[in-house]
Amino acid sequence: MSVIRAVPIGVGHYLPKRVVENAEFAKWLDTDDEWIQARTGIQRRHFAADGELTSDLAYEAACDALKDAGITATDIDAIVLATSTPDQTFPSTATKLQAKLGMNSGFAFDLQAVCAGFAYAMTMANSLIVAGQAKRILVIGAETFSRIMDWQDRTTCVLFGDGAGAVILEAQTGDGTSDDRGILSCDLNSDGRYNDILYVDGGVSSTQTTGVLKMQGREVFKHAVTKLASSGETALEKAGLTADDITWVIPHQANLRIIKNTAQKIGISMDRIVVTVQDHGNTSAASIPLALSVANKKGQIKRNDLLLTEAIGGGLAWGAIVLRW
Ligand code: UT7
Repeated sequence: MSVIRAVPIGVGHYLPKRVVENAEFAKWLDTDDEWIQARTGIQRRHFAADGELTSDLAYEAACDALKDAGITATDIDAIVLATSTPDQTFPSTATKLQAKLGMNSGFAFDLQAVCAGFAYAMTMANSLIVAGQAKRILVIGAETFSRIMDWQDRTTCVLFGDGAGAVILEAQTGDGTSDDRGILSCDLNSDGRYNDILYVDGGVSSTQTTGVLKMQGREVFKHAVTKLASSGETALEKAGLTADDITWVIPHQANLRIIKNTAQKIGISMDRIVVTVQDHGNTSAASIPLALSVANKKGQIKRNDLLLTEAIGGGLAWGAIVLRW
């Protein structure tokens, strides 16, 4: 049976120039490289320059993905941009990106599901394509989490970084089997009872300030492993596949220990997991497309590979996607 699939035709990323090694935090905090690496796997992260906006990062990642796809911005008819660190309260960062790209038609909007943002954005883009609302969609995760850090809180500020990643999805006809290229299944979840274990203590309606990130790390960690594994398994089941079929897992890059424990729970060995957390830190919604792009440029993931992505973040919101590259 012929079906419409959302097929990746390009991928790209951008990291701000400034690289901050773990040792730098020890200059003003009671922390060290050894603790950060042992507990998180993070060695360094990138921070945006003063005046460098989320839309600037998104623009560079979008240009990289357009180049990879061999198309121009006018060939795109929608932008879905996942971010929790928009340039402004409104308009959306997606419409700012649309203007920067010189794309004067179609539609663009932001989507906010924190670290699960890219899984949500890919699912929305897939639905738009399958429903015939758009033919080519630029899906972006872009963040400047350095703008919402409490630099005196060693339990959070060493964990996050800035960056952007982009994937272009195109409507193509498939056979309706798991041999098709493109998105094969999506699984989204949220549970608002856990709002207060990972949040930002400011906002438009509450404080009229931006606020800083607060996290009960140990609590989030506990939820992360079980929820990621269960969502990954559900996505595989929906696609009629098992962990053995997966070529690569591209997990949200928050913590190497979460990545390892989740892989073990799903039953996939570490040599099939793409890991970039050591170089990027946690870039929230940008982490999966960044990892995808890095793995693609290295030749690690190849056309027709079967990929599983999974992510969790504030909300709590989490999800997983199975796609054939
Ligand atoms: O992407 C969104 C989802 N977020 C996550 O996935 C994050 C989930 N959580 C985590 O990754 C981990 O819980 C952390 C990396 C945040 C923390 O690791 P942990 O093994 O859970 O450590 P902990 O919170 O249990 O803290 C252990 C100790 C504490 O000291 P005491 O109370 O034992 O004396 C902390 O104060 O480590 C201390 N500590 C630090 N020490 C040196 C916390 N942060 C630091 C630090 N440097 N930066």
